[in-house]
Amino acid sequence: VRTLKVALLGCGNVGAQVARILLDDADALAARTGARLQLSGIAVRNIDSERDVELPRELFTTDADTLVKDADLVIELMGGIEPARSLILTAMQNGACVVTGNKALLAQDGPTLYEEADKAGVQLSYEAAVAGAIPILRPIRDSLSGDRITRVLGIVNGTTNFILDQMDSTGAQFADALAEAQRLGYAEADPTADVEGHDAAAKAAILASLSFHTRFALEDVYCEGITKVSAADIAAAKEAGFVIKLLAIAEKIDNPNGEGGISVRVHPTLLPREHPLAAVRGAFNAVFIEAENAGQLMFYGQGAGGTPTASAVLGDLVSAARRVVLGGPGRTETTTGYVPALSIDASTTSY
Ligand code: HSE
Repeated sequence: VRTLKVALLGCGNVGAQVARILLDDADALAARTGARLQLSGIAVRNIDSERDVELPRELFTTDADTLVKDADLVIELMGGIEPARSLILTAMQNGACVVTGNKALLAQDGPTLYEEADKAGVQLSYEAAVAGAIPILRPIRDSLSGDRITRVLGIVNGTTNFILDQMDSTGAQFADALAEAQRLGYAEADPTADVEGHDAAAKAAILASLSFHTRFALEDVYCEGITKVSAADIAAAKEAGFVIKLLAIAEKIDNPNGEGGISVRVHPTLLPREHPLAAVRGAFNAVFIEAENAGQLMFYGQGAGGTPTASAVLGDLVSAARRVVLGGPGRTETTTGYVPALSIDASTTSY
């Protein structure tokens, strides 16, 4: 059986679980791909950092460049823009398929990466970047590719959904609900990217790009977080039969003069309490899709956490390994064409 060398960049919550699964499930993964996926090394900043999972010390290195150059498959889970961006580009230029969960990088510089993947004939996949464990990008790109998606509504940030849900169910103020989210380990120590909507906006750009076969960057996404939502707003919404959710929205807008466009935005939204997304409680994620022929679809699950997100990473890795084994050229989840994003007064919208 052929052996494929897998380089892992980053060993945080998700990376550590990916490494564990690669080692524990090596036989099953070999059976599914037709190749042994050999974890050749884990690049980290500090080899002696405390980790949840015990992993062989000899796998760790601080030399990411050398590790990447010798790999068939590269998993990037370091986050941030650099050095992640350069390492991904180097990996692809060397003919390696890349799996990443780096939504911030994809939202900022996706087109450069997609083009490089196409040029190099390798696969660049990133299911883990949006809604953690939920298989959502591949269904949009593959299963729905014969349909026309008209709207995507996503609860794609677990921290803010937890906070809004706490405020709705207990009457808590924003600051108290945030403190509870931090106590339970949902929110980051600095929760700005969550509560200001930036994390959801990066995911919205990715969802919109794949759903509408075009390219949206972070700056195309209108973004408003939940810091101004008060207990009184939530109570008033409840009284009127609504729940307030932070939604990532991408939808086709038809102008009266016939010139359509795509609106991509993140903001607190009033949802009727009977809407399927209103039932998404706690830190869960869900993505609700409307397509011309399929009608309404909903995808639900854990949007964060080491093991759930590792599931999405491993799925991408198996898919990439199968392509390498079959000898087919990689094709990235790229998008073509350009439809300008519409700027609309998002805060007045409800569903
Ligand atoms: N901070 C994110 C969330 C993690 O709360 O959903 C997953 O991107």
